[in-house]
Formats: sequence, structure tokens, C-alpha cells
Amino acid sequence: MCGIVGYVGSQSALDVVVAGLKRLEYRGYDSAGIAVLADGGMAAAKKAGKLANLEKELVERPLPAGSTGIGHTRWATHGGPTDLNAHPHLDNAGRVAVVHNGIIENFAELRAELAERGHALSSETDTEVVAHLLAEEFSACADLAESMRLVCRRLEGAFTLVAAHADEPDVVVGARRNSPLVVGVGEGEAFLASDVAAFIAHTRSAIELGQDQVVELRRDGVHVTGFDGSPAETRSYHVDWDVSAAEKGGYDYFMLKEIAEQPKAVADTLLGRIDASGSLTLDEVRIAPGALREVDKVVVVACGTAFHAGLIAKYAIEHWTRIPCEVELASEFRYRDPILDARTLVIAISQSGETMDTLMALRHAREQGAKVLAVCNTNGSTIPRESDAVLYTHAGPEVAVASTKAFLTQLVACYLVALYLGQVRGTKWGDEIRAVVRDLSRISEEVEQVLETMEPVRELARSLASKNTVLFLGRHVGYPVALEGALKLKELAYMHAEGFAAGELKHGPIALIEEDLPVVVVVPSPKGRSVLHDKIVSNIQEIRARGARTIVIAEEGDETVVPYADHLIRIPATPVLLQPLVATVPLQVFACELATARGNEVDQPRNLAKSVTVE
Ligand code: M6R
Repeated sequence: MCGIVGYVGSQSALDVVVAGLKRLEYRGYDSAGIAVLADGGMAAAKKAGKLANLEKELVERPLPAGSTGIGHTRWATHGGPTDLNAHPHLDNAGRVAVVHNGIIENFAELRAELAERGHALSSETDTEVVAHLLAEEFSACADLAESMRLVCRRLEGAFTLVAAHADEPDVVVGARRNSPLVVGVGEGEAFLASDVAAFIAHTRSAIELGQDQVVELRRDGVHVTGFDGSPAETRSYHVDWDVSAAEKGGYDYFMLKEIAEQPKAVADTLLGRIDASGSLTLDEVRIAPGALREVDKVVVVACGTAFHAGLIAKYAIEHWTRIPCEVELASEFRYRDPILDARTLVIAISQSGETMDTLMALRHAREQGAKVLAVCNTNGSTIPRESDAVLYTHAGPEVAVASTKAFLTQLVACYLVALYLGQVRGTKWGDEIRAVVRDLSRISEEVEQVLETMEPVRELARSLASKNTVLFLGRHVGYPVALEGALKLKELAYMHAEGFAAGELKHGPIALIEEDLPVVVVVPSPKGRSVLHDKIVSNIQEIRARGARTIVIAEEGDETVVPYADHLIRIPATPVLLQPLVATVPLQVFACELATARGNEVDQPRNLAKSVTVE
């Protein structure tokens, strides 16, 4: 939530920072602002609404040229999305500017103190106090990095801060606690950003900042310390994707591009996981096989779409390993005092690796002695750094707020974890594991096939643009797929959409069925558990008898559903447990097209942000 950029170098700071903000706008789009150090002073501009509003402002009222600057794109927490509350925030003398991501929990107390000392604060934000505190500290020590360390020691909560001071025109300082910030190191220039996408056009050399660290950026290098001033260890890495991965590449929306990238994302996530002898090798899973053999319970924690991946993972984990598996919403997990110990394996699933609810859940789990394995798409982010082990999904950057390719790769990674547990614990034979991996390696092609047949789904979506409600039904692994289909529709099309376990219908939800209500039904393979299949066919008949318009997703060759489907969407036949990898794709396309037909912003749905870094 909120995107932050900082730059020191010899290029136009305005151009670098605005271009960086464009790549970070997915993180928040309530307002945007920039500050540039020029002519011995600080020049700033900020505007409510999307970045385009700020760009327009900058054309009408250009800022002076400078080569040091900071910028921000906001997802509002404290104070509405107005020009005044937009970042950067400046001190009363207008010498220091600061941008912030996160929440400063003790801001009210700090604000009252500042008011007593004669500071006039004008916004409703928690951030503004930092600008004033930095100005006070700087007037005593004339060192922005030291001022930042002193201020950070007084702040409570989660924050990334980036600041500049007119008296240190070639310096930008950043600080992080529980909120993302990465450093980019170029030739004679350096960058700070919430995500490498902001500077990938300039450099692929990055440095991870640790918790409670302050970084001072100068043209000739960066210097990192702890909040207490002690020298800090950092990890440098090379970003292994290039700028084209963070661009739309000819698609109208990132979401369309990301849907289309799914075959590759799935294949990449499987790459290199099998050794010459045919055994699974998950090198990044640094939990000793002995410890994995001891595991007597698996708990998956995640939010939103990642939670749905966890719900599906449960079926595979329990089926292949016979270890009981619970799946919890990360935001609920630690508040109910869950039973955890050294024999519990917690799997934290997160695309961004920065979701605060998931981070807090994993911290709680580790405090209780559980081992945590992260399934994550973002190299070097906080969740994998704080976990005992990580399995990276190789989806590449996911920019659209609605998660698509990350979901499919989370499923693949979870299947691999389940098989690995089965391998280590001996509940699965080598040839059984290899058979599942063979099935998994066919999925990429099958997703491709689904994508090639999506025109009728798009047409159907357009025809439903004026509907108010769509329901989704599924059984077994199809139930979380139904939940995911409903979530996609809510967040993109702003429609009332709900997913139900089809068996629950008769316990209440069937009362919702009325004439012409669209109901999407995910039908399990007739090959696997035929009881399951037959039951859902009866469910389809029950809702159709009450007037529902049935939209049936069923595998090729399943003819039993044909008489009851008003619309039939075909997917390739897959083993039962793997069906979500193909069944979810039409639902993503459906939601994207419906949102477009309703004139909604596909990549940046209202009120949302890509990385939810507040609880
Ligand atoms: O980055 P994470 O995977 O931890 O994010 C979790 C959810 O916020 C995320 O999946 C959200 O539900 C998506 N916008 C859904 O499309």
C-alpha cells in the first residue's frame, strides 16, 4: 500500500520519480506527489486522484529542474484522499519533505507534543509529524540520516519513510520497519522504492533493506545502518526480470497480460524441481527432512486469493501426506490463540510477501515454536525473509490488483510442497510423485488451451453486464474455485457475488435463486469421485428448476451436464486435485470482461491496493 520512490543522480529527478511512480501506481492511487531539490530549496507538487492528475499539474505548473527527488502514490489510511493529505509532507519552513507507507500508531501523541512546541500541522495524516520531527532533529545535528535514526526510534507502528532536506541537496534517506523498501544501485545514481519495478529501467542491482534500518543514498553509493546507528548487514541481488515484464506489452490491461502469462508462469514454477533420479528437490526449503518427518499438523495462513490457494492446498496435503491441515485467514489467526508447537508446519502464502496480516500470523507462529514455510512470488520481501524456508513461485511481477498468475503458481507450489512432504515422510512412492509431476507439467499446455477458447466466455460476460448478482457453486476443490470466482467478480465488477459449497445450497442459499439469476457451477471430473460429480449435477438441476441461468464449467467429454447447462464452458480433463489450475482461468476472464463492460478500471479497482501492508 502506497508506492514510494527516491532518486539521487544526474538525471532529471522529476522524470525518474514520475516514471517510477507510474510503475508503483498499483500500490495505491488515491493521490500522488513529488518533491525535488532545486536551487537551494525544496519544490513540491501533490494532487488528489490518480497520478495523471499530478502529471497534469506538473505540466501546468512545472517544478524547477533538480537531480534529487522523492515521490509517492497513496492508498489513504489517515485522512481522506485530498490534495492536502497527499504526500510529500513538509515542515513549516518547507526545507524537509517526507513520504511514507504504513501507519504511525503514536502519531496523535507526537502531534500534540509538536503543537505544544509551536509547530502548525495542516493535514489529517500521521505522516506529517515525521516531517516536523525531522526538521527539529536536523536543526540540532545537520545530518539527515542521523535525524531519521533519531526520529525512527520514537515511532511506533509499521512504516517506510523516505525524506530529503534542502540543506543536503545530494542526499535521500530512507528507513523501514515492517514495510517494504528496496535500494537500486546504478552508475553514479541510486534509487529507493517500494518495489524494484520503479527502477528496473535504470538498474537491476538491488539491495534488500532489513528491519529497522536506515539507508543514506548518495550518487557515489549507499550507506546502511540500524536505527541505533550500528553498521548493518545487507544482501545485494540481481533482479532476474527486465523492464518488459513490468509493462503491458500491448495488452489493454496488466490483468489481461497476466492471465495470458499463466502457462509460462506455471511452467517456470515447476522448473528445476526434479533431479536426475526423478526425486523432488526443493532446495529453498531449508527445513531439515528430519524436522518435516516430525510434523503432525500443517496450518496454512494467507489472505484473499492466496487464502483460496491455501483452501485448495489442504485437499492435496491431506490426501498425499495424511497430515491434518487447517487453513486460516491470516487476519484472524493470531487472535484466536491457535494451538501451535514445534511439530506444526505453518505455510504462509503471499504473492507480495508484504501482506501485514500474513506477516503478523507467521511471526505469531514462530513465537510459538512452529516452523514457517513461505510460498511467495517476491524475492527478498519480508515474509520469506522472516520465514524458516521459502518456496518461490516464478510468476514474474504481478501488477494488476486482481491476482491471477500468482494464484495458479501458488497452487503449483503448494502441490510441490505436499508432494515433498509425502516424499520425505514416505507416504508417497517415487513413481506416484513422478506421475503427479507429469500431470502438473501438462497443465501449462492445458491452460493455454483454455485461453484459446475464451471468446464465448467474454461474450457471456458482456451479456451479463447489467446483472446485480452472480453466484458461484463448487464441491471439493471446486468450492475454493467458486470462492475465487466470486472474489474476482466483487473486486473487479463491483457486483454482489458469492461462492458456496454446492452441498450447502439446501441449507439456506437456495433461497437466493430467482428467475434468470446467473449461477456459475464448477463441475468436478466424472472420472475421479463420481459421487461428487453426480451430486453436483443434481445441484444444477435443483437451481435450474428454480429459474437460475446455469453457467457450467465442465471437463471435455462430460456429457451428463449438457441438458442442464444454459451456457457450457469446457476445460481440459485433469486429475481431480489439479482441476483448479484450469477451472479458475475462465472465471478470471469472465470477471475481467464484465468489469470492462461495466466501465470499471480493471487494473486498479476502487478502494483496493495490490500490497496490503496495514492490518
Ligand atoms: O500479496 P498477497 O498474496 O499476500 O495478497 C493477498 C490478498 O490481498 C490478495 O490475494 C487479494 O485478495 C487480491 N487482490 C485478490 O485478487
